Amino acid sequence: MVLVRPFVLEDEAAVAAIWEEAFPADPPRNAPRGLIERKLARDSELFWVADEGGRVVGAVVAGYDGVRGWLYHLAVASSHRRRGIGAALVEHAVDTLRSLGCVKVNLQVRRGNDSVRGFYEALGWVEDPVMSMGLLLEPPDASPRVPVT
Ligand SMILES: CC(C)(COP(=O)(O)OP(=O)(O)OC[C@H]1O[C@@H](n2cnc3c(N)ncnc32)[C@H](O)[C@@H]1OP(=O)(O)O)[C@@H](O)C(=O)NCCC(=O)NCCS
Repeated sequence: MVLVRPFVLEDEAAVAAIWEEAFPADPPRNAPRGLIERKLARDSELFWVADEGGRVVGAVVAGYDGVRGWLYHLAVASSHRRRGIGAALVEHAVDTLRSLGCVKVNLQVRRGNDSVRGFYEALGWVEDPVMSMGLLLEPPDASPRVPVT
């Protein structure tokens, strides 16, 4: 039986392995250990794993800022896919966001990862007519681009 429960520190290696398998092309800024450290420092309660008899077989991260909810890094171990585990993780995250007063949840799918469209559509998600944009923030210790006099 698979249980969706909050992430605990002991899950770190298993979650990192699932993400590294699921997202092999992720940039260094998404390295699992740093991502987990930042998430735990911010709102650790919006981070869940799927646990089958003590083995972590999936994970999802959520965020809520009062305007929108977001899902990130949903992944199920390849050995455990098509058993409803991804759907259970999404359902748990969405139910939690709803309980916090969230009225809409967003997520981004990388170009080239089109095969997950069928998964989200099966759960009732629809593509939004938006262009997604981002701004990469330099680490605080990076050299300024403009010399400071
Ligand atoms: C996407 C992912 C999390 C789905 O997890 P899962 O546990 O296999 O999904 P579920 O078993 O809960 O699927 C529920 C339903 O979604 C649909 N579905 C799932 N995977 C699908 C796929 N690859 N293509 C089309 N439909 C799919 C099916 O209708 C499925 O029900 P069914 O198996 O009874 O037909 C998993 O494939 C994964 O980890 N992929 C790699 C990481 C990734 O791309 N994450 C998304 C980032 S945005």
